[in-house]
Amino acid sequence: MATTNDSAHPNPVTAPQATIDLLKRLHVQSEEQEANIRLPDKNIGFGTNEVTVGDFKTIMSDKFIALDEDKCQFMYQLIRATGAKNIVEAGTSFGVSTIYLALAANANAADVGGKAIVIGTEHEPEKAERAKRYWAEAGAGVSEAIDLRVGDLQETLKTNLPTVDFLLLDIWTPMALPALKLCQPHMRPGAVILADNPIRSAEGYQELWAYIRAPGSGFQSLCVPYSHGLEMIVYYPPK
Ligand SMILES: C[S@@+](CC[C@H](N)C(=O)[O-])C[C@H]1O[C@@H](n2cnc3c(N)ncnc32)[C@H](O)[C@@H]1O
Repeated sequence: MATTNDSAHPNPVTAPQATIDLLKRLHVQSEEQEANIRLPDKNIGFGTNEVTVGDFKTIMSDKFIALDEDKCQFMYQLIRATGAKNIVEAGTSFGVSTIYLALAANANAADVGGKAIVIGTEHEPEKAERAKRYWAEAGAGVSEAIDLRVGDLQETLKTNLPTVDFLLLDIWTPMALPALKLCQPHMRPGAVILADNPIRSAEGYQELWAYIRAPGSGFQSLCVPYSHGLEMIVYYPPK
């Protein structure tokens, strides 16, 4: 995987060195874990015949599965460029990507005023607790910016959503479309959605692609060519 922390490709994230070091450490842990995950076929996923839902959840229950470091840095840049302050994350796990979201949204709020809010979603209570510990360690107002909703996002995102500037879909693919549909009525014109692994998980994302590529949907997307792809979707609500 590409990293962007050398002098030729500096890390765009503005944060105390201790926070940068924490992120680096968490990415390393996540990558080591992922390299050792043994599914019958690494490309299959949740709900397929080969791996039952129960098997998959058990295998993943103590895994980071963090968004790759280079994708996190791109996401940070994008949020800074678009000025997003109200963010929803579908799939928080141990909260690595959430730290980037909070840092970027806080920086935007510091530039123009107002408050940053990052709504995280995590089904597993143990993962949520560990995420909170990392956020406390990340310092710099990270925890304060995050509203973590523990439970099934199909319930937790039903109410109390602000105008959504940015949505990260980093979740088992069957949950991507439900998450998008819950956020869509709240999305500002020009809201940006990132969906991870559109190439590797093309099959799992079929319903999402059908929805966003339907004529008149208001969504426009392209695949940014990171490892396994990173879909960048922009929402222009139909007039
Ligand atoms: C790929 S991981 C997220 C990684 C995280 N974005 C990061 O970069 O650190 C996906 C997470 O989504 C959670 N999840 C799966 N289905 C969910 C649901 N219905 N509601 C909330 N969270 C769910 C899983 O427990 C898992 O921790």
